[in-house]
Amino acid sequence: MTYSRIVGTGRYLPERIVTNADLEKIVDTSDEWIRTRTGVERRHVVAEDETTSDMCVEAAKTAIKDAGIDFADIDLVITGTTSPDLIFPNVSTLIQHRLGIPACTAFSLEAACTGFIYALTLADKFIRLGDAKCALVIGAECITKLMDWSDRNTCVLFGDGAGAVIVKPSDEPGIMSCHLGADGQYRDLLYYPVGASNQLAKAGTDEAAIQMTGSEVFKVAVKTLGGIAAETLEKAGIDKSELDWLIPHQANIRIIQATAKRLDLPMEKVILTVQDHGNTSAASVPMALDVGIRDGRVEKGQLILMEAFGGGFTWGSVLMRL
Ligand code: UT7
Repeated sequence: MTYSRIVGTGRYLPERIVTNADLEKIVDTSDEWIRTRTGVERRHVVAEDETTSDMCVEAAKTAIKDAGIDFADIDLVITGTTSPDLIFPNVSTLIQHRLGIPACTAFSLEAACTGFIYALTLADKFIRLGDAKCALVIGAECITKLMDWSDRNTCVLFGDGAGAVIVKPSDEPGIMSCHLGADGQYRDLLYYPVGASNQLAKAGTDEAAIQMTGSEVFKVAVKTLGGIAAETLEKAGIDKSELDWLIPHQANIRIIQATAKRLDLPMEKVILTVQDHGNTSAASVPMALDVGIRDGRVEKGQLILMEAFGGGFTWGSVLMRL
């Protein structure tokens, strides 16, 4: 039986940092409110001329180097993002070309904050079926470009970035269990109103920005994430006490604490980046994984649960050994 395994990671964060103190000057908020209600202290924000593919290329280069592979080894590129450079060509084709990866399967998918978990789950299936030998999987967002900087309900939450992993076949797991879900009944609680076919709100108007009913999203997120963590462990026949790390989507420190509590995990076993990155949507899980590996906390062979929840709603989790 062939499994898939992550063999390299990388991340890219834009240079510009916006602190809570900076936001106090723009909207009616306070550092104290943002810290206590969300856990965010600062976030990175893309430059005006910087795009999602720019960030992906940098994160991918680091992951490729980390994995010790050649660009030419890659035969699958999947990017989870809600803020691609263009509607088409899809952002994975831009990345493939810019990195000099030979023509291969390359597509992007949109599952909001769950984009990376969806992308990694698909890469796992391609590899286990023998349809790919080396996958570049990315979660990336220029989410601040979809935001209204005068809306305090959203502008204090989000940040930009890209996280990349290289996935290869392995005789040993690797990825052990994936669990994906979605329910469109919650569409109106978290959405961006401008699309290709529904242009009721045109870009450039006040309405063309992320709309969120935060407290309602919060409740469903806590309930759903607790449930999928338990289901994923059960599917793999693993007891929660065996987990070494929880690497969650970094939307809100209080949601993360609630999930950790359901798993009886102390916060020392949770990789937290929300304070430094804010909510980077699809980029948050792969960037947190990279942070944990590079600072030496997350080690080869350890058991890791990654999970995410986002607009749609969509949700998902991946249980794996590094
Ligand atoms: O990543 C995808 C999924 N997204 C999420 O998971 C986000 C989930 N939601 C959340 O993280 C939280 O709901 C928020 C952080 C967005 C909001 O926190 P909350 O504790 O749910 O606050 P709330 O919306 O219930 O608002 C409480 C109060 C309100 O004032 P009143 O009505 O009590 O006087 C808001 O107007 O906080 C006020 N408020 C703010 N005050 C200062 C809302 N935003 C701010 C702000 N600064 N930025």
